Amino acid sequence: MIIGIPKETASGEKRVALVPETVAKFVRRGLEVAFEPACGDASWYPDKEYETAGAKPASSAFDADLVLKVQKPTREEAGKLREGATLVSFLYPLVNAELVRAVSERKASAIAVDMIPRTTLAQSMDALSSQANLAGYKAVLIAAERLSKFFPMLMTAAGTITPARVLIMGAGVAGLQAIGTAKRLGAVVEATDVRPETKEQVESLGGKFLEVKGVEVKAGAGGYAAEQSEEYKRKQAELIAEHIAKADVVITTALIPGRRAPILVTDSHVRSMRPGSVVVDLAAEQGGNVEGTESGKEVVKQGVLIVGHPNLPSTMATHASQLYSRNLEKLLFHLLGKDNAFKWDFNEEITKGCVIVHGGQVVHPKVKEVAGVA
Ligand code: NAI
Repeated sequence: MIIGIPKETASGEKRVALVPETVAKFVRRGLEVAFEPACGDASWYPDKEYETAGAKPASSAFDADLVLKVQKPTREEAGKLREGATLVSFLYPLVNAELVRAVSERKASAIAVDMIPRTTLAQSMDALSSQANLAGYKAVLIAAERLSKFFPMLMTAAGTITPARVLIMGAGVAGLQAIGTAKRLGAVVEATDVRPETKEQVESLGGKFLEVKGVEVKAGAGGYAAEQSEEYKRKQAELIAEHIAKADVVITTALIPGRRAPILVTDSHVRSMRPGSVVVDLAAEQGGNVEGTESGKEVVKQGVLIVGHPNLPSTMATHASQLYSRNLEKLLFHLLGKDNAFKWDFNEEITKGCVIVHGGQVVHPKVKEVAGVA
């Protein structure tokens, strides 16, 4: 089996799917690896290191049996897959039906890393989490850089500076990393989440948990949130209104899988904030948690800066690629048999969760249903 590593072509994408460290492991396992020259340049992994790890340069990585990408392929790239080949990348198949059909037309297979179930067994393969972790960290650094204030409390000869107040909404992977990072910089951190079990995690990182009280919370499945009732949303908006006016920085990370991101910060919340405050909306790509977020842009509303960067992991491409690459190593070592052929065991939960197309057939029930493909 030959593994191909293309150079990513999406605008602004600096990551690469496999780094030399992982290439060496695949080669040791008896797999061949072909890389497109300069595929690792933007993340600081030079061609020389790929060759030292045992990979060979190739003009197109799409001639391989197993093509490993970060971003979903373009329509044209999907059209280059060989019959019987397998593509592994972020794919978001529930909203990319055309791409699913393109892979299926090539009689190829597609594995969507964004569909890997969030289970204990799959933790080391969970690319969404590894990348969200980086995004949570970078969101805080961006906010600290844009804010015209210190984060920590400072005792100076000219008097005491009070610490910045940071409000984090959504205490999942990105949110918890944001809490930890903001605390390490010395801020006073508050956080809120619809999942009550996150209270302990927020507090263990030194944050104060803001709880929506006196209303039923709907539980989600698999570590994810569920859409809440109108009454919950109203009470949550009141709670946010109370705290956001005092915040210097707000970082929003709220996600409900398969849905538009919930709006948590309204125009009137933004108007209540002090001019000069900074909001970083990590959910910009999913429509945003903040009214007025524009994906890929920084907008200023009533003096409040709203940052909607859609791809923060790419701004930390060296570590983002290293972690993604390790996720793929664990995933593939799980899916391949001792003979290095795919096991395609559809009774097994990871295979069932993330294999979308198999040999040209769309096999994932939810994708079939949502995208109308068969
Ligand atoms: P996650 O699922 O681990 O965390 C999301 C959290 O939001 C959960 O704890 C959930 O309970 C909470 N939540 C959902 N609805 C809520 C509500 N109405 N109020 C309060 N909390 C609510 O997701 P993860 O992996 O941390 O990702 C967070 C967001 O960051 C996602 O939208 C993701 O797409 C985005 N992201 C953005 C990146 C960027 O570069 N902009 C990079 C990586 C992820």
